[in-house]
Amino acid sequence: MRVAILNGANLDVLDRRDPALYGGLGLAELESRIYAWSKALDCQTRCRQTNHEGQYVDWCHDALDWADGVVLNPGAWSHYSYAIRDAVELFTVPVVEVHLSNIEEREEWRRVSVIGELADKRVLGKGPEGYREALEFLVTTR
Ligand code: DQA
Repeated sequence: MRVAILNGANLDVLDRRDPALYGGLGLAELESRIYAWSKALDCQTRCRQTNHEGQYVDWCHDALDWADGVVLNPGAWSHYSYAIRDAVELFTVPVVEVHLSNIEEREEWRRVSVIGELADKRVLGKGPEGYREALEFLVTTR
């Protein structure tokens, strides 16, 4: 199974962000855990991260022709980017929305996710393990 994992704005500096919310882990370590889980689950996974919204949209489009499942953490774009929402709407494969922190227990503006209703599954507030749960979900729905 081919899985595209797309991380958005500010996830490249994860290890500099509030450890109480994000756990203190860096993106490279997060991705290496994701690749290890993917190997164990027999998934061919491609992790990407960008701070540029248009790039994120382009990578959603790339994934349309490649992935059998998608894991999305658009970071703050989750709360307001209709461009990303429109791109996510194009997926015909299962989509999982992941957030390291529990956005439903944070500031009011973070409780809104414009992609939430498009996701087949949402994993909130489980830290890096959320990505494992997302992969396991995709594998079981394959
Ligand atoms: C996040 C939550 C967002 O509100 C925030 O803007 C992020 C990270 C998370 O993984 O918890 O950048 O998506």
